[in-house]
Amino acid sequence: MKVNKKHFETEAIRTQSETTQFSEHSVPLYLTSGFVFDDAEEMRASFAEEKQRDLYSRYSNPNVNEFVEKVCAMEGAESGFAFASGMAAVFSTFATLLNAGDHVVSCSSVFGATHGLFTKYFPKWNIECSYFNIDEVETIESLIQPNTKFIYAETPTNPGVDVLDLAFLSTICKKHNLLLVVDNCFATPYLQNPIKFGADLVIHSATKLMDGQGRVLGGITVGKKELIREIYLFSRLTGPSLSPFNAWVLSKSLETLAVRVEKHCENAMKLATFLEAHPKVTWVKYPFLKSHPKYDIAKKQMRLGGNIVAFEVAGGLEGGRLFFDNIKMCSLSANLGDTRTIVTHPASTTHAKVEPEVKKAAGITDGMVRISVGLEHVDDIIQDLEQALAK
Ligand SMILES: Cc1ncc(COP(=O)(O)O)c(C=O)c1O
Repeated sequence: MKVNKKHFETEAIRTQSETTQFSEHSVPLYLTSGFVFDDAEEMRASFAEEKQRDLYSRYSNPNVNEFVEKVCAMEGAESGFAFASGMAAVFSTFATLLNAGDHVVSCSSVFGATHGLFTKYFPKWNIECSYFNIDEVETIESLIQPNTKFIYAETPTNPGVDVLDLAFLSTICKKHNLLLVVDNCFATPYLQNPIKFGADLVIHSATKLMDGQGRVLGGITVGKKELIREIYLFSRLTGPSLSPFNAWVLSKSLETLAVRVEKHCENAMKLATFLEAHPKVTWVKYPFLKSHPKYDIAKKQMRLGGNIVAFEVAGGLEGGRLFFDNIKMCSLSANLGDTRTIVTHPASTTHAKVEPEVKKAAGITDGMVRISVGLEHVDDIIQDLEQALAK
């Protein structure tokens, strides 16, 4: 079917695998580990990459290909490779790009597991990492060394919802001939396209808003064709590939990403505004609140503010504990980007293993709460938080 796929929503819905002889409307699930060949010559030519086709699901699979094609269209990327989880995407991207003796400059506020890779595993491969504080981006250039390979950034950050200026980072990378690698998980491709601002590679944990219903894990890296080719070669050997079933779920979910994310953001904005006026809340961070320190940058590079709100309950650890113990409807969980609103305490969960000074630099205080705002009626979400704050 020929479709004029001009808009994000249309790309998300009309990017589809080829229809089979059954003329199905909804894409079938290709649960197969391997694919068959007509003869020895076809097999030889396919393995020699003279012929483009699926060989083995560790390399590619029709469901995975469809998911990758959709995310590439949404991000404006040339190519991509899909992974079993967001961390598989992060690790495989790093492992492909970096050699022993290389150096990375990263924002100090990154996801706890990513930080764990930098601190626990990079040193044993003689790879160094220098961190810049989110509020001191002017120090970035001073951290660059002759062996620096790329700048790594998350924006908005997990869990502090800080915002980094992608165009600014890209200018530094171009000046020093470095790659810019961005974890775009919190924004989703609907809200922000880092490639437009100069990123070379964009990583997603598809487990979050891409799935949107807390069902499956997945990850993806998209970007420049020649870099993805290297990531593909590494991954087809090492096997962190996305399963066809998860790819099918994720590709279906992307069809509704735009409408879901619009509503998540509307609810998050209302909740952030409520929290900002609450006497028991010390501070609130949400990219589209005027009080956010990087409000202008968020407005410049994001369509809406996202679904994550960070705030601090008055009364330190004890105030935080009382609040968590009195939540009735929202889920106490470490995931995010679900239809269900999730309340997390980063200091004791996702970032528990992060050193105190790094936690401080990332703005993670003992009383800090991260809320992944869901799709329940916003009045019910507010009511639940209101009654927990009243205790
Ligand atoms: C910003 C960010 N990047 C990467 C990941 C890792 O994704 P996954 O849990 O799918 O491995 C997460 C998970 O929370 C995340 O929040």
